[in-house]
Amino acid sequence: MTSRRQFLAAGSAGALLVRGAGAARNEFNSDVEARIARHDFRGLTKEDVPTPAMILDESLFQKNLDKMAAHNKATGLNLRAHVKIHKCPEISKRQVALGAIGVCCATTAESELLVNSGVRGVLHTCQPAGRNQITRTVALARRDPTFTGVLDDPITADALEEALAAAHAKMNVIVDVYAGLNRQGCQPGESALRLAQKVDQSKHLKLVGMMGYSGGASHTHGWEARKKKSTDDLAAMLDTLALCRKSGLPIGIVTGGSTGTYNIDTENHLTELQAGSYIFMDTLYRNIGGKSDEHVYSDFEPALSVLTTVISKTRPNQCAVDYGNKALLRTTDEVKGRPGVRIESGGAEYGMLLWNDGDRDIKLGERVEIYPSNLDTSTNVYDRYYVARGESIVDVWPIMGRTGAAQR
Ligand SMILES: Cc1ncc(COP(=O)(O)O)c(C=O)c1O
Repeated sequence: MTSRRQFLAAGSAGALLVRGAGAARNEFNSDVEARIARHDFRGLTKEDVPTPAMILDESLFQKNLDKMAAHNKATGLNLRAHVKIHKCPEISKRQVALGAIGVCCATTAESELLVNSGVRGVLHTCQPAGRNQITRTVALARRDPTFTGVLDDPITADALEEALAAAHAKMNVIVDVYAGLNRQGCQPGESALRLAQKVDQSKHLKLVGMMGYSGGASHTHGWEARKKKSTDDLAAMLDTLALCRKSGLPIGIVTGGSTGTYNIDTENHLTELQAGSYIFMDTLYRNIGGKSDEHVYSDFEPALSVLTTVISKTRPNQCAVDYGNKALLRTTDEVKGRPGVRIESGGAEYGMLLWNDGDRDIKLGERVEIYPSNLDTSTNVYDRYYVARGESIVDVWPIMGRTGAAQR
């Protein structure tokens, strides 16, 4: 095992690369950064990482990927995994390598990120609107013939058709039908049929499928209740699908679903699953209960945590960590390996860990890992995943296209 002295010595040559204005102020982090830039992780451990930081447990993450891939294989339900929870092309590529047919993206910027990363089969699960998004969507369709967009309105169909015609381009389209989530989806039945026919008759739009995303089902507590909610929410969309197919429309893809419904949607006639969170899991998901355990949704492992440092411990039964509101601390987060420790906000930069009985032996300077409550928002404020094998850091993957202009 490499000692800290060896690690820092090995890093000192790399540190020269980054020693410029300001580097002398923070030589330790510069050494770590230089090692990361060179992909030289020998001797790097969680202790070396500046906190708060996102830690990805490599073996649990891989277990989650493998489990979903095996499920897809066994059931024939394709995976087009959602990117919104991780924003990391490295992860998408691993999912594709295990059989995923592509990825889902929540925004135009996310779609650009994934298409530009070389991932094929990108589905943008929200329709583009307005000149900026329509123009960029057409550019995506021109760049990658496998890119697919959804729409839920004839106005979008017209706008896309016009812009595609002007660019001499074609685009795959999935009609988004309401499935219980008020934010999106055209009315099922005749009006969805008319929209699908309009797409089918357009010269530059190619009708390829139908989407119904039951967002309310994903976090419904209790497997049976979740199954009922998903089945109820999807019923009108599936009737619409039958109507469209009966009228001769070529709808091959039926897409929707989530981590919470991955083993329910096989019975709901979907051909594709849009699950995202299963790769990491978060505390809100862990608490919805599963088919075999009504309290814990343990089908997938909690692979992602926020590494924090105990920065003050001057009072009994509590300590402060350097993980606060800015780093997306939530009171519904959970401390890894320490059941019974509660979490409270200590302000923008601080979090409080509290316990009732005795000294839980959390020491000043100690590293504590905390499971986040909501992956989408948490990963959005960190810039990388430190991939950990036990205590060792074995890789670093960037989280891309996050807050600010790059996200839009
Ligand atoms: C359109 C869409 N599809 C699928 C998902 C499912 O993702 P997850 O498996 O993380 O619940 C989401 C999540 O918000 C979504 O917005």
